[in-house]
Amino acid sequence: MFDAERMSLIPFSGIRKVFEEVNRRVAQGQHIINLGIGRPDFDTPANIKEAAKKALDDGQVHYASNYGIEELRRAIADKFARDNKLIFDPAAEIMVTVGANEAVFITMMSFINPGDEVLIPDPCWPHYAPCVHLVGGVPIALPVYEENDFNPVKRDIIERCSEQTKLIVVNSPNNPTGAIYTRQTLEAIAAVAVEKNLLVLADEIYEYLIYGDGVHYSLAAFPGMRERTVTVNGFSKSYSMTGWRLGYVGVDKSLMPALIRSHQYATNCVSTFSQYGAVEALNGPQHEMRAMVAEFSRRRDLVSTRLGSMKHISFSEPKGAFYVMVNVSGTGKETQTVADELLDAGVAVVPGTTLGSHGGDFIRLSYANSYENLEIAMTRMADYFKGL
Ligand SMILES: Cc1ncc(COP(=O)(O)O)c(C=O)c1O
Repeated sequence: MFDAERMSLIPFSGIRKVFEEVNRRVAQGQHIINLGIGRPDFDTPANIKEAAKKALDDGQVHYASNYGIEELRRAIADKFARDNKLIFDPAAEIMVTVGANEAVFITMMSFINPGDEVLIPDPCWPHYAPCVHLVGGVPIALPVYEENDFNPVKRDIIERCSEQTKLIVVNSPNNPTGAIYTRQTLEAIAAVAVEKNLLVLADEIYEYLIYGDGVHYSLAAFPGMRERTVTVNGFSKSYSMTGWRLGYVGVDKSLMPALIRSHQYATNCVSTFSQYGAVEALNGPQHEMRAMVAEFSRRRDLVSTRLGSMKHISFSEPKGAFYVMVNVSGTGKETQTVADELLDAGVAVVPGTTLGSHGGDFIRLSYANSYENLEIAMTRMADYFKGL
């Protein structure tokens, strides 16, 4: 009754619904393996936890700078230079945010006017479009197809641009498709962005989760892109720090005044002692992070091999992140029905319809679960599809 009108455009998260249904059934005694949620199952590496504990003991319990503590901004700038060939001034071009979630929200808040259009790959992580709606913008679906490894196609981008288009969302490695955008795809996006004078939000949170010979490119490093790209990253996925709520943006200094003001009024700053843990994550030893990536790679191989021999389905092998989109159109059933029936069979997945208007043929699996659980889940899925 008191809801603002804009809330009518904001759905409850479909992924959360799956999560809650799983919890309800587990409480009733059903054994379910949850492949619905994208949360690494590892503990945060001990050196990172120690650094945050030490910060607490050292009295780091007060507000931090709105931009983030200096040590962390410097560590992030070093990381951008090292990994992404991007040079940012830690004093004016880096900001620490409450997860990548906040970074996405304040990007929309800072740059999208009512009526501005935002191109969003579809299917995609179902966070971007609601953020656009919350600020009065208009999300425009940019379909991506299995046959192109879910990379957006230049013609589709151009066709969906209008006078109102202000921003394109890019997410590579991608949730939910597991795609890594190729250099050619990023060049095409950059060319359109420059020609049409668009901003780009480059969500690179899965940057380190790349398998085989995949290569990650940062869009901001392409010619003409630095001044029009908000590069978003964070600690949740690579370092298994989802509960720490630590993300960041790197931007040209011309974009920072708007972002820092939105951030000021949303959250002020990120929990100070957490930020000391993040400094250790970036500057400390990386072997635990690499071991987690190696384990995700092993799980990806397991899931790909097992899915490859299942009936009625197809999929393109994921190259990054920890998701696989499985095409279930060969079952002749709706994605929601397949997801419901798999849940009855003891495997929770996300129906593709919660991931965009072009997700209807798919279910999404997350392999951020133990190898043993994945083996059981794959057997249950094989039995389910065989029985159709
Ligand atoms: C593409 C993408 N970006 C951002 C996030 C959220 O990251 P954070 O935990 O840093 O808010 C997620 C989480 O699922 C994601 O899939």
